[in-house]
Amino acid sequence: MKARHPKPRTGGTYLLARHLPRWGHPHYGHGVSLVERASRSGVIWSGTTTASVRPSPYVAHHALLSIARSHDPLLQLPAEDLLLTWLDTLSQWGYHSVSTSALAPIAATALHDIGFSTAQDLVLLEHHHRDTDNFIGVLPSLRGRWPGSRFPSQHVITEILHLDCAAFGNERQMDLITLREALCATEQSRVFVSYVDKLLVGFVIVGVSDTHGFIQRLAVDPNCRNSGVGTRLVQTALAWIQAKDCVSTVVNTEASNVVALHVYENFGFAPMNYRLAVLEKNLLP
Ligand SMILES: CC(C)(COP(=O)(O)OP(=O)(O)OC[C@H]1O[C@@H](n2cnc3c(N)ncnc32)[C@H](O)[C@@H]1OP(=O)(O)O)[C@@H](O)C(=O)NCCC(=O)NCCS
Repeated sequence: MKARHPKPRTGGTYLLARHLPRWGHPHYGHGVSLVERASRSGVIWSGTTTASVRPSPYVAHHALLSIARSHDPLLQLPAEDLLLTWLDTLSQWGYHSVSTSALAPIAATALHDIGFSTAQDLVLLEHHHRDTDNFIGVLPSLRGRWPGSRFPSQHVITEILHLDCAAFGNERQMDLITLREALCATEQSRVFVSYVDKLLVGFVIVGVSDTHGFIQRLAVDPNCRNSGVGTRLVQTALAWIQAKDCVSTVVNTEASNVVALHVYENFGFAPMNYRLAVLEKNLLP
């Protein structure tokens, strides 16, 4: 069966977890990695999946807990006593609160059971490509910094992060690491952009793994909304994905984001039979 979800990324902490020897930890038991790669940052568990942590660049003492394959509806997290040791580690590392990557329902339930609550309810939408689809790419893609590179120049990255902050707000904005994750989460990826008078007013990050497309991030400058920029970005994303012979494209967006939902529904996206959730927990006594 074809993979329906992006492959876990192969860089950063996941690569580190695979390459470093595993050792027993008195708290965690034998065969489980605990690797503090940098201050308050690293792999806190590596078994059926990998859980890694880093500090939020925007909220003091807040941990970002990233769980590999967290979109996979079949992903099972370890037993409750082991999950509680994750919280111990976060507290020992000095964090006051934690939020997770977007989780499929089974994994989310396991964390709800140890006191996490839902911070974001995300609808998963899917567009099934048909032979009759005729999307035409109308916007340019960014060039890589060098041939074959996924990463645009530093100047453009700064523009993208600035626009992302304006579009999503201080607490939900991407930082450089999240941008790299979005670009590396799939086998191939592209960033399509919209400029007005040489100013970046919108971008979309798109990926393809196997025969499935993914819209990873979409943002339009708040001053340029409702003039079709978002629609043209999605259209261009779908044209690129269609040219890769994908059978479907998946995107997630907050259940309350009526504008994004409307844009995707205009392209025939329909809700999938499960949702994702970003969870959070206060770690202070
Ligand atoms: C979602 C977003 C990308 C849309 O960009 P945009 O350039 O404004 O989109 P467009 O102008 O192409 O289309 C907007 C559509 O929403 C409709 N719309 C506007 N306000 C609306 C509302 N309150 N309720 C429902 N529909 C609404 C418009 O009528 C238009 O639909 P139409 O083409 O059928 O007339 C932009 O609002 C944004 O960046 N939001 C913040 C980041 C975000 O939510 N990203 C998507 C997460 S996946």
